[in-house]
Amino acid sequence: MISDHEVGLARLADAHRIAEMSRDFIEYGLGWKWTAARILLCLRDDSTNVAVAREGDDLTGFAIMQYKEEEAHLLLFAVSAAHRRQGVGSALLSWLEETALTAGVGLIYLEARTRNAEARAFYRQHGYSEIARVRGMYRGVEDGVRIAKDLWVLL
Ligand SMILES: CC(C)(COP(=O)(O)OP(=O)(O)OC[C@H]1O[C@@H](n2cnc3c(N)ncnc32)[C@H](O)[C@@H]1OP(=O)(O)O)[C@@H](O)C(=O)NCCC(=O)NCCS
Repeated sequence: MISDHEVGLARLADAHRIAEMSRDFIEYGLGWKWTAARILLCLRDDSTNVAVAREGDDLTGFAIMQYKEEEAHLLLFAVSAAHRRQGVGSALLSWLEETALTAGVGLIYLEARTRNAEARAFYRQHGYSEIARVRGMYRGVEDGVRIAKDLWVLL
């Protein structure tokens, strides 16, 4: 099980690896839009957090969350295939939720492909609810679900 202190903000040098993980674990079959250049923009954006989990020099997971006034949108989230089911995703998500609460933001929302049973189970396990199904959400070719969690409800 990973411990919380191995999760933290990404560095500029992580952009390339994060982009590769997005291509391989999130955007497969849809075309690669989250390139290293786009990740770098997120890293430099004050209203966006790019978080990573590390094991030594290895980047084992990452998350990109964009903050609005009262809610946060989890744009990308993945754990490398070799490190799944070891608590890495849970550690990243806890870090994001704590950071959101510290920023005074109580609502996190995100989207997942309808057929992504693993992610849907993961978010359900962490108290997230599926609030809508959207036909063709993914570039018109795949359906998706909107998922959300009100962090304040649990306080
Ligand atoms: C979804 C994902 C981030 C989960 O990361 P992870 O590090 O494996 O998750 P954890 O080990 O913290 O899992 C916590 C709990 O979530 C649930 N869970 C996680 N993966 C699951 C799976 N494949 N099937 C069923 N439940 C799962 C389980 O309850 C698990 O607890 P357990 O292992 O004790 O049973 C990871 O599978 C992933 O990166 N998938 C590909 C990218 C992706 O789908 N991203 C999300 C897009 S919205």
